[in-house]
This record gives sequence, structure tokens and C-alpha cells, in this order.
Amino acid sequence: MSVISEPQTRAACDFNHRLNMPQTLARDPKADEAALPALLAEVQACADRPLAQSLTLPAGAYASDAFYRWEEKHLLRAGWLSVTHVSQVEKAGDFITLELLGEPLVVVRDKDQRIRVLSRSCPHRGMDIMPPGFGHGPAEAREGASGGGHTRLFLCPYHSWTFELDGGLKACPEMHAAEGFHRSEWGLREFRSEVWNGFILVNLDGAASQTPAQQWSGFSDHLAKWADQDMVIVDAREWACPFNWKVIVENFMESYHHVGAHSQTLQPMMPARDTWTEEERAHYIRCHLPYGVKEREAITQAQAEGRERATFPVIPGLDERDRFEWGLTLGYPSMLLAYVPDCLIWYRIQPEGPHRHTLLTMLLVPRATTQLPDFAERLKCGTEASVNFHLEDMEMCVGVQRSYYASGYQRGRLSHLEMSIWLFQRYLGARARGLFPTEDRAAAAGQR
Ligand code: FES
Ligand SMILES: [Fe+2]
Repeated sequence: MSVISEPQTRAACDFNHRLNMPQTLARDPKADEAALPALLAEVQACADRPLAQSLTLPAGAYASDAFYRWEEKHLLRAGWLSVTHVSQVEKAGDFITLELLGEPLVVVRDKDQRIRVLSRSCPHRGMDIMPPGFGHGPAEAREGASGGGHTRLFLCPYHSWTFELDGGLKACPEMHAAEGFHRSEWGLREFRSEVWNGFILVNLDGAASQTPAQQWSGFSDHLAKWADQDMVIVDAREWACPFNWKVIVENFMESYHHVGAHSQTLQPMMPARDTWTEEERAHYIRCHLPYGVKEREAITQAQAEGRERATFPVIPGLDERDRFEWGLTLGYPSMLLAYVPDCLIWYRIQPEGPHRHTLLTMLLVPRATTQLPDFAERLKCGTEASVNFHLEDMEMCVGVQRSYYASGYQRGRLSHLEMSIWLFQRYLGARARGLFPTEDRAAAAGQR
């Protein structure tokens, strides 16, 4: 099978986005809105089926503007979305910028070492204080990183209002004649945020009833085995994805596709047949991808010969199971992590409507790993491997989305190996009823 290159994949994404455009523009907004109740009812009906009778969702769940607006309000703005990692904002004044659900944001560490997620919308006339692509102002861009840098303060380029790192308005020229104007009342808006296991998460509507630590406590200890190693991001790649954000979530969480998309890469190492999903949880899904016999033998042999099989040193303190499998978790709605014995893979998703999203794929390793003399070579290998299987996934995701606009699209049956997709449907169905999974029915049993 020929290998698809990264430039080729990026070009194919652009091309498919253009192919999708006529379909997306052709949708009748009124009909789309009118169809929402039936679509939500169908999602619930789908979630009501037992796994052995499960079915894929209707195409509208991936192509309807009204459904996307429902998700934006009830899943995305209401939930905790990962924005960056503490290693990106280590010192006071370090920041990253990103666009999330139409919000221009800056994540910054302030002078008191508190991490804040601030809106970049200027409280004067609304200018984006750090307009992407222009790059002036007092902030120094960090080399190589997208949207990151260091600054002492924020300066709005329009009328030169300046803001402290905590968002407070520091100075504003020629405002002395504005009656009743008090500087203290005109800071940048701050969104609710939390740092959890090194990840910085934002809750845009500010009304989430639980913190990430509370809702994801069930896999926190597992993640901590990696997170406690002072992890740093060593590779970050941004992808313009011409497909619905749930398509990458579903792709990430099911490993049935190792038999097809990854037949030469992941399948020999982690055969699809052996992958399995834990019992249903209210706020997350957890899957296991054990190494196959051949990979286990190769590891044992390497150990006997005093060699390393993994690209980086294995994370210290992992137990037997962790060292012989990859783990996956989805923290609803979109926090995707893959636990690899020698690194952590994290996907950040920025939905931009039903038809596309921006994806940042990241590789994290312990800081100690980056100090190895041969780290550069190891990173090259590790990056190549993770990018290669991601390219295989991109091809599948792009192709799947195109079918959601086609009259020939049929809803399909799921394999038991796609239990995670069925659990995700149950999450969507529960949210349609204003609940979370397991709150109104018994949890589905796990596969082991
Ligand atoms: S819009 Fe920012 S200073 Fe005027
Ligand atoms: Fe995949």
C-alpha cells in the first residue's frame, strides 16, 4: 500500500472542503431547523438499541447546522474543552492564542502564576487585541509554535488600550471626558478555566456543574502516571479538517479500523480483534488496545538483549498492562488522549460548524526524555510514526464526511468492536434528555 504524504493529505483536505461546499450551501435553513426535533429523537432511538443491534447515526447529525447549534450549546459550550498544556505557558507572560467556537481566546499565565483564559475581544470597540496573522504589539511570538509567545502586557492595536496579564485594563489614552468611566470595570472578559493533570480546560458557558477533576476522576489516576512525569509537548501539528468534529472522535475511539486504514501500521502491533471497551461511564469512555503476540515477543526479546523497543524510554512506574497496550480515553465531549507506554498523544478539537474543525495533534513526553543525547533522532522516529497513522485516519474521515451529503448514504450496522461509538451515541441521547449516560438507566457492561 502506498504511503500518503502530509502535503498530499493537506491538499486533499482543501480539495474535499471545496467539494463539500456546494452541498453545505444548498441546505434550506428553515427545513434544517424544522428537522431538528426528529433528528434528536432519532439519536435517542439509536442510543436505546442494544449494542448488538446498534446502527450509525443519521447523516444530519454530522451535516445539519441546527444539530450543530444544539451541540454547541448543550455539549461544547456546556462542557470542558481542552485548550493547552501547562508546558506551553510555563512562565508569567507566556501565552497561547486560539479560536474556539467563535471566541478569540488567549490563555496566559499572569504575574501571580495563575493561568487565565481571556477573551481577545477588546472592551472598547471590540477589536481582536491579537488579530491572527498581523503580529504586532508587545508580544514576542514563540519560535515554531502556532499562536504562542511571551508578553509583559496586552496592547490593543486599534486605540492602544493596554491590559495586564490578568486582563485588567492598565491604561487607555484620552478617556478622561467619558463620564462615569472607571478603568477597573473595563478589563478583558475571563472564561472559567481549570488545570487538570497538566491540561488547561475551559468551560465557555461557565455553568458546568462539575469540574474536570470531578467528572473524569475515573481515569485521573491512570492519566497521572504520565502527567506526573513533567510532560512537555514535543510535536504539535494543526490540521484543517473538512469533516464534523464527531467524525474524528469516533475514529479516535474505535480500533476496528486497524484492519483497514492501519492494516500495515497499527494492526500488526495491536490487532483490532483484541481491542475492548470498559463499562459505560457518565462522563467518559475508556478503551484498551493490547499488543498482539508478535509485538509482545519483540518487546521481551529486546529486553533480554538490553535494547529498547519503544521510541522513547518507557514511562517509569507503568504496570504490566500499561506497558503492553495503548489506552484511549474520550472525556466528553471532546478530550481525546492516547496512552502509549513511552508517550502521550493528545488531540485538541476546535469545531467550526457541522462541516469542519481545526485539529491540533500533539505528542508529549517527559521532560527528562527531551534531555537524552539522541532525543532529536528519537523524536523524528516518534513523530513519523504518529503522523503516519494520523494521515491514514485523515483519509478515512474526509471520505466519511462526503457521504453525509450524498443521497446514496446508508446508515450502517456497528461491530461489537465499535462499542465506543455506541457509547458516544448514548452520551448524545442522554444529553438530548438533559442528562448524562447512566443517570437514567443502568450502565452498559464492559467487554472484559
Ligand atoms: S478597540 Fe481596542 S482600544 Fe479601541
Ligand atoms: Fe485510526
